[in-house]
Amino acid sequence: MYQVAFSYRDIAAEVDVLLGWFGRHAGGVPGSVLELAAGPADHAREFARRGIAATALDLSPEMCHYASAQAVADGVPLEVVEADMTAFDLGREVELAVLLLSSDSHLLDLDAFVGHLESVARSLRPGGLHILEMTHPKDHFSTDGSTRAEWEATDGGLTVAARWGADGDPFDPVTQVARRSVELRATEGGGSGQVVRDVLAERLWTATEVTAAVRLSGAFDVVAWYGAYSGIPVTHQKAWRMIPVLRRR
Ligand SMILES: C[S@@+](CC[C@H](N)C(=O)[O-])C[C@H]1O[C@@H](n2cnc3c(N)ncnc32)[C@H](O)[C@@H]1O
Repeated sequence: MYQVAFSYRDIAAEVDVLLGWFGRHAGGVPGSVLELAAGPADHAREFARRGIAATALDLSPEMCHYASAQAVADGVPLEVVEADMTAFDLGREVELAVLLLSSDSHLLDLDAFVGHLESVARSLRPGGLHILEMTHPKDHFSTDGSTRAEWEATDGGLTVAARWGADGDPFDPVTQVARRSVELRATEGGGSGQVVRDVLAERLWTATEVTAAVRLSGAFDVVAWYGAYSGIPVTHQKAWRMIPVLRRR
């Protein structure tokens, strides 16, 4: 259901852009990539399809199992690591790390963010990049949020209606953590469906906090701030994502 709900993304096009940014800010093509909080590891599998050694890391055993099964079904090699992105050590260095689709929101406080950056730094070669696709802060600070909280997607005969957040979800302005109620409602072939509901703790990170966390880690320089996969800057009026590109010192 997760995979159908997020099937609106063009994974191959996003990987094209990520590789373009790698070429611009690090030079060349990465030989290895690590997708963090990878979930179904769509991007990692797309990197693998292009001959890049890919690793997917996730905390959830179910997601790790699902990502492995998908890689087998795709016929691509994928290393899957079950670990916490705030404290891990791959034991080797990759050239590119990515944390996509606002998965940074699972870093619930500054210690978690800095721990994440220190962990990535341990597993990234000097000059390598860590690219984070984050929610644009304007979603939280302006009254005209730019991402849709309700949408529907269909794939392979399965239709999933997704609701990410609801009126009245609590947001703690001190910790900047929201308790977001999420609902995925699936129907197949017009029949009655299955509903999954959950409440997720998600933290909002601002650009200045990212800068501070990066400085605290002492391991990276922020070399670009994009506002979408189109490459517009994060300050652009049409920016709807916040994508800092960090280069390992
Ligand atoms: C919204 S999904 C995003 C999946 C993926 N990034 C994508 O682009 O489709 C968030 C994932 O983060 C994982 N996650 C949450 N906290 C984590 C942590 N501390 N370490 C590693 N993975 C974590 C969850 O298990 C889930 O699979």
